[in-house]
Amino acid sequence: MDGKASIMNTTHRSGKMQSDEKDNEHKLAMMEEDIAITKNMAKIKHKIAVMSGKGGVGKSTVSVNMALAFNQKGYHTGILDADLHGPNIPLMLGLEGRHLNADEQGILPVVTEENIKVMSIAFLLPSKASPVIWRGPKKTGAIRQFLGYVAWDELDLLIVDNPPGTGDEPLTVLQSIPSLDGIVIVTTPSPVALEDVEKCVAMAKSLNIPVIGIIENMSGFVCPECGEESFIFGSGGGKRIAAEMDVPFLGQLPINLIDDPDSDENMRIITQNNDSLFTQRIMEVVDKIEEYIKKKDE
Ligand SMILES: Nc1ncnc2c1ncn2[C@@H]1O[C@H](COP(=O)(O)OP(=O)(O)O)[C@@H](O)[C@H]1O
Ligand SMILES: [Mg+2]
Repeated sequence: MDGKASIMNTTHRSGKMQSDEKDNEHKLAMMEEDIAITKNMAKIKHKIAVMSGKGGVGKSTVSVNMALAFNQKGYHTGILDADLHGPNIPLMLGLEGRHLNADEQGILPVVTEENIKVMSIAFLLPSKASPVIWRGPKKTGAIRQFLGYVAWDELDLLIVDNPPGTGDEPLTVLQSIPSLDGIVIVTTPSPVALEDVEKCVAMAKSLNIPVIGIIENMSGFVCPECGEESFIFGSGGGKRIAAEMDVPFLGQLPINLIDDPDSDENMRIITQNNDSLFTQRIMEVVDKIEEYIKKKDE
């Protein structure tokens, strides 16, 4: 072997050693994160992920009102907003402009007046117009940090509101949360939204995550003048697809009429408008979800 070749070999070997070291460091960091997530999530009795095939079907609306309903039932509840590109939970709960604090326990979630703990990327952004322009690994990392290093503490229930579809964020949520109770899928009765429900069910099944059930949102509108119900986007598709895919159907939620479009309280439908049909129906849905999680406690 001449001198030149041997120098090249050494360089090559040290390059490989460096990349092995980096690989090992990365693996170690992931393992540490896994341990932090397992420890942090073990303090939370129940964890539910809310998913949908399409955007704009009402996942965040359902997540917020589900959290309020469980809170009213006496569950100490948290919401993790896993929609990094469209984090709407702070606005829906009147927490816009709030920022995070940290102490020796970790990052402290923002707490609503009802004592619901909330974590959202929105609390870390300089302004509500600031976009999050991140690729997959960075998004995965952020969600794992929210799971592992936010001081959720002892909670009865954590609801994770996902962005639409079956991409990086829901995949991370479904794969990273140990003993996730299951997923709730929200759809509208529109055939286009229903088509994508099948993808969510298939994703959950492939990861061995139970499907707690499907909710059909924006299903019907009751005219406040004459009381007649009109099914603007159709009706019954959610129940049909649930039967076809052999998963439970949780119920239909109607389109909720907003009394005061300028009110910050509009999204808290069950507290703001507690005699509405939406409130009545979501309470029935929440009863079914409670029944499901209680069975896991037995
Ligand atoms: N049942 C409902 N009645 C009236 N408006 C609704 C209902 N569900 C959702 N919305 C409205 O539809 C829009 C999309 O809902 P959102 O919860 O943000 O959907 P997603 O989280 O699936 O994108 C919001 O403006 C929300 O206020
Ligand atoms: Mg949303």
